Amino acid sequence: MRTPIIAGNWKLNKNPKEAQEFLNAIEGKLPESGVEAVIGAPAVDLYTLVEGSKNTPLKISAENSYFEDEGAFTGENSPKVLAEMGVEYVIIGHSERREYFHETDEDINKKAVKIIANGLTPIVCCGETLEQREANETEGFVTGQIEAALKGISAADVANLVIAYEPIWAIGTGKTATSDQAQEVVHVIREKVASLYDADTADKVRILYGGSVKPESIKELMSKEDIDGGLVGGASLDPESFIALVNYQK
Ligand code: PGA
Repeated sequence: MRTPIIAGNWKLNKNPKEAQEFLNAIEGKLPESGVEAVIGAPAVDLYTLVEGSKNTPLKISAENSYFEDEGAFTGENSPKVLAEMGVEYVIIGHSERREYFHETDEDINKKAVKIIANGLTPIVCCGETLEQREANETEGFVTGQIEAALKGISAADVANLVIAYEPIWAIGTGKTATSDQAQEVVHVIREKVASLYDADTADKVRILYGGSVKPESIKELMSKEDIDGGLVGGASLDPESFIALVNYQK
């Protein structure tokens, strides 16, 4: 049984004071079991979020980290320090990082390896552009991203990590993929993991859908066999909306 995950991705939004206000607003309103609630936040908010969510069901994610633990890498985030702080997840390979910060499949693979070595769980993002979808290239492109990201990672580690399928044309556009479109690609990703590893690993890895997920659409998405949760940008910023998302089973 795969435990569902609802992971917020705040992107470059909220300061520590606003992060604390968010924690105050969701206090006591997250399910104690049956779903993992995660907030991905800017590095400057992580200390406040980790400290303020102790003894609550909320888990905290970074939105990026470097593939070295320390050294002369001005401006980067250490995965080792993230782990020491109590951060549990790190989002990597988000399309915004690939596009604006020129992250390559190779960078993302190096990050995944280092994040796992530090005992953190990567949330590995993939997803196609509208042009690729219209040219029928979605499956080949997305499975290629996943194969590259997982290079050299053991089956046991892959079984524990999280993949997020986020079609770029659906991010921040209000255009959610239909639940059938999302299920179709998420299923293909799971089959790819089975072919790279084995059926058991594919059965365990959790695969989320992301792209304009809202409280109104989460239930339908979650009804699909292969979709194990959502990576949610805009709709995770408002505490009431985040509470509604993580309580989708009610
Ligand atoms: P969105 O963002 O929910 O605002 O579309 C999703 C994401 O980029 O992770």
